[in-house]
Amino acid sequence: MDKKIAVIRGDGIGPEVVNEAIKVLDKVAGICGHRFEYTDLLMGGCSIDAYGVPLTDETIAACKASDAVLMGSIGGNTSTSPWYRLPADKRPEAGLLRLRKSLGLFANLRPAMLYKELYRACPLREDIAEKGFDMLIMRELTGGLYFGARHTEEVGGVMTATDTLTYNENEIRRIAVKAFDIAIKRRKKVTSVDKANVLDSSRLWRKIVDEVAGDYPDVSYEHMLVDNCAMQLVKDPAQFDVVLTENMFGDILSDEASMITGSIGMLSSASLNETRFGLYEPSGGSAPDIAGQNIANPIATILSAAMMLRFSFDMDREADMIENAVSKALAGGYRTGDIMSEGMTRCSTSDMGDIIAKFCG
Ligand code: IPM
Ligand code: MG
Repeated sequence: MDKKIAVIRGDGIGPEVVNEAIKVLDKVAGICGHRFEYTDLLMGGCSIDAYGVPLTDETIAACKASDAVLMGSIGGNTSTSPWYRLPADKRPEAGLLRLRKSLGLFANLRPAMLYKELYRACPLREDIAEKGFDMLIMRELTGGLYFGARHTEEVGGVMTATDTLTYNENEIRRIAVKAFDIAIKRRKKVTSVDKANVLDSSRLWRKIVDEVAGDYPDVSYEHMLVDNCAMQLVKDPAQFDVVLTENMFGDILSDEASMITGSIGMLSSASLNETRFGLYEPSGGSAPDIAGQNIANPIATILSAAMMLRFSFDMDREADMIENAVSKALAGGYRTGDIMSEGMTRCSTSDMGDIIAKFCG
């Protein structure tokens, strides 16, 4: 099969980790007789440097003309980088938010599982870690606080900032349907997370999720308040299968979930619209402090490429090849610095890519 992939390497460790994902994709393409054609695009800080804006209309058009988008990460050090002296809507993150919105990527899937080999990298107490966990966070990605109107003004001589959190029932329904659809293929449990004891948007969220749940009698579901969920994630992560939540709660909870897998460098993600099109990126950031040193963990990006094969290209066998290769690399004791433990073999970003590519075939 021939596929056109838009590639946004981005900033910080982005280019390094994307290179390893492409290495692995090319290996799989060679074995299975596919042809992947890559188009390099700029977004984030590198786009600001080149074009003065974090995302150009041409980049959006090129993404739309592709079968999927593979991304690294964007942004820099928020205290020191000149990108953060620009107005908020000209900063690197604004580019990512606009790209998600322009491509209609409302469903963000962030799987978080504990590999048994990484058990020792998990910061949780041993009796909790040994039970393992395998959850998928379904984060709403194009609504809520990140897209509501915002402004800062002086009110009676006092600086005042306002952000607005809005959801309509259609936005809630379509993400809830995605969550229940995927739960059917997993362990058939949805935990819908909100703050319904305080927020109107959460009360509507609950009502609509209840309605959607009625169409899925085989899926068990529950509601959980977000503060309790943050606690349950470290107390008993094994209880979760699909965690359905709105944009900001999902942003925060997915970072927490990633950390208990051992490292944020392990967490892949897929952002999907109503069609098969998607954007695939590691959940972690651009880690400017370790950029360019060939020490970042490329596994999250490599696993994101596997999600791209599975969700956008319908290549389950090829996705399995990559996921199995990652397991073999971990079982073989290969570790980047973030997941290193005693007795293991420390490897660089590019070593890890080589090893995973080797285990694909
Ligand atoms: C993420 C990131 C982004 C987000 C930032 C960079 C805008 O934290 O993908 O989780 O908040 O969505
Ligand atoms: Mg985040």
